[in-house]
Amino acid sequence: MSPQTTIQHHSAYSRTARVIHWSMALLILSTIPVGFLMVQEGLARSLQNALFIYHKNVGVLLLVLIAVRIAYRFAVPPPPLPDQMPAWQAKAAGLSHIALYALMLIMPVAGYIRVKAGGFPIETLDALGIGSPVTRSDEIAEIAKTVHYYGALALTAVVALHIFAAAHHGLIRRDGIFSRMWSPKDSAGG
Ligand code: HEM
Repeated sequence: MSPQTTIQHHSAYSRTARVIHWSMALLILSTIPVGFLMVQEGLARSLQNALFIYHKNVGVLLLVLIAVRIAYRFAVPPPPLPDQMPAWQAKAAGLSHIALYALMLIMPVAGYIRVKAGGFPIETLDALGIGSPVTRSDEIAEIAKTVHYYGALALTAVVALHIFAAAHHGLIRRDGIFSRMWSPKDSAGG
C-alpha cells in the first residue's frame, strides 16, 4: 500500500456515513425539483396529487434521516481535512456544512408544520396512526410556508455550491477530498 493510499484510507468517511450521505443526496435532489414543480399552476390534478404525496412523505423520511445523521456525526466525528488544505477552504467547507445541516433540519420541520397546521394529511404517518403535536392554525401554516419557501431557495443555493466544490475536488484538483465520501476502497469501514 502506497503512503498516498494510507493517508486516504485513514481520512475516508465510514461506510455508514457514506450510505447516509448518498441516500439523502438522492432524496433531496428529487424533493427540491418536485417541490418547485408541484406548486406550479396548470398541472393535471392527478399529477399534482402524486407529486405532493411523494414530496410530503419523502420529506418526512428525510427528517428521520437527518436526525440519525446528526446523532451519528456526534458519535463518529468526520475525518479531519488534510493539513495542506488552505485555511480559507477549510473554513468555507465548515460553514457550508453547518448551513447544510441547519437547512436539512429546518426544511422538513417547516414543511411538516405547514401541512399539519394547514389541516392536510401526511399519508404514511396517518396510516401508521402517528398523531401530530401541531395544532390547526392558518396563521402558523402561513409562517411555516414562508420559512419553507425561503429555506428552499437557500438550500438550493448551498447544495449548488456544495456540488460545485465536490466536482472541483473530484474532477479538477483530484486531491482525494471527493473520494473520502465516494470510493468504498478508501474506507476505514464501519
Ligand atoms: C429536506 C426536505 C424538504 C425539501 C428540500 C423541500 C423542498 C421544497 C421546495 C423546493 C418547495 C417549493 C417551494 C415552495 O413553494 O415552498 C416545497 C414546497 C412544499 N413542501 Fe417541501 N421540502 C421538504 C420537506 C417537506 C415536508 C416534510 C413536507 C410536509 C410533510 C413538505 C411540504 C411542502 C408543501 C405543502 C409545499 C408547498 C408549499 C405551499 O405552497 O403551500 N416539504 N418544498
